Amino acid sequence: METCRLNSSMNILVVDDDPGIVELLADLLQDLDYRVECAVNGVEALARMDAKEFDLMLTDINMPVMGGMELIERVKKLDNPPVIIVITAYASMQSAIDALKFGVYDYITKPFNLDMVSNAVERALEKRFLQRENINLKEMMALYRASELISSQSGLVEMVKVLFRSAASFTQTDFMALYLDDTSNGKRGDFKLSRRQLFHEMTASERYLISSLPKKLSYSVAKEHFLDHSSKIFKENDPLLTTFFSNSSKPIHFSSMMVFSLKAHNRLIGVLVLVSFTPEVIFSDKLRRSFYMLVSKVAACIENTYLNDNLQRQYIETVESFAQALEAKDSYTHGHSRQVSHYAALIARQLGFSKDKLAALQQAAILHDIGKIGISDSILNFSGELSESEFAEIREHPRKGRNILAPISSLAAVVAVVYHHHEHWDGGGYPEGLVGRAIPLMARIIGVADAFDAMTSQRPYRSPLSLEKAFVELQKEAGGQFDPELVGIFISQKDELAKLLESHREREHNLFKRKTDRMISSCKPEVVACG
Ligand SMILES: [Fe+2]
Repeated sequence: METCRLNSSMNILVVDDDPGIVELLADLLQDLDYRVECAVNGVEALARMDAKEFDLMLTDINMPVMGGMELIERVKKLDNPPVIIVITAYASMQSAIDALKFGVYDYITKPFNLDMVSNAVERALEKRFLQRENINLKEMMALYRASELISSQSGLVEMVKVLFRSAASFTQTDFMALYLDDTSNGKRGDFKLSRRQLFHEMTASERYLISSLPKKLSYSVAKEHFLDHSSKIFKENDPLLTTFFSNSSKPIHFSSMMVFSLKAHNRLIGVLVLVSFTPEVIFSDKLRRSFYMLVSKVAACIENTYLNDNLQRQYIETVESFAQALEAKDSYTHGHSRQVSHYAALIARQLGFSKDKLAALQQAAILHDIGKIGISDSILNFSGELSESEFAEIREHPRKGRNILAPISSLAAVVAVVYHHHEHWDGGGYPEGLVGRAIPLMARIIGVADAFDAMTSQRPYRSPLSLEKAFVELQKEAGGQFDPELVGIFISQKDELAKLLESHREREHNLFKRKTDRMISSCKPEVVACG
């Protein structure tokens, strides 16, 4: 241990009602390069410890106002109590035992010699140094574990929840707010309040304070104040507070506020605000520096999530546009996946699907035949009877669809539906021949919706079936090709289905008319030329 460097960072409190003893001990310890403060009784000692953290307390036992034993008892209840050495003229075996019971480190009797005191102080401070290192190590380990937990979260929401939980336990903050770069519509602009949380019941003044936090923080203000600072602690009167509490004309009552900037590639992507309303909790520079390590990790993870989401969104958009292009090549299947999506949603709503689950189902409906992109047009558009090998190639489209979508982790639920949408309830389908409820529910729903749309749409080789005839066909296959319960639910939506079918047919008719008009207009010059 480097004693000289250590001494100057150690704070010692000397408590004794005898001014001569106080002066003697203070001189000795200052000569040894320690920082020393003095108190003449227990009450004064506690007041000093309220304002500052001490590493060592040397205390007498018999003092007016508050004696040494009561002082020791109360000091031991502090969050980070100092090491204690008792120096007393009234030594007895019982008082020594009592003091040691309270965890006093050493016990010196008056009159004492100065070497004895300096040796005891040095040993006590070595203990204190090791305690400090142990606390630092524990804090660092806990922060490391929190940062690992944050990295292992798959989504932004979960990541932010872990950040809030960690911040509450490390910093004893009362309130926390996180602003993140507003990425809605794929753009980056102002900072939107992403999440805020109060960790206890709000008082009226806290409610007022929090309501004055802006919902949005302008990018230019955040950039001006935080881009050059990784983190900052605000005192109550700091003029920068107007940045956050701009609506506040009332005085703001809180103890301490810490603000962290979240940066990725030196670009500001968010701002984290922590507020303490508790007079005893004042954020320290040490805490700010330690916690910044966690915040930096969060910033890197959030940026990775943005980049990954963006990449996935672009991939999905590309695949969806391929799916539309595939249908658009054939006027008979144009709009098929959108119609399947509408029919599937009718069943899903009856089953009480959540908003997210419904969105996944509709995406699966849009993409269910994406695998046909890998099948030649001559087979897809052939209206005659297919050979066995041609039919085998068509049956490959669920597998091809799965391969196309598999790289997109956010489409995991959709991939399974695309892969299994040709399975039959009785096990007669493909590609796996799954039976009954082993087939994913969304795939069973798409199976019913897909068949209904195919039957009620115009094909080159047949006219569309009426609603009633399509119902008869579905019922014939309930328990065979289709999940009987889903067929029942579907048919019970007759009025809604009739409306949807009518609007689909109207769109089909308009499309056919536009195509016919284009053909007629493109033929005219030829007719003239021939004539
Ligand atoms: Fe299909």
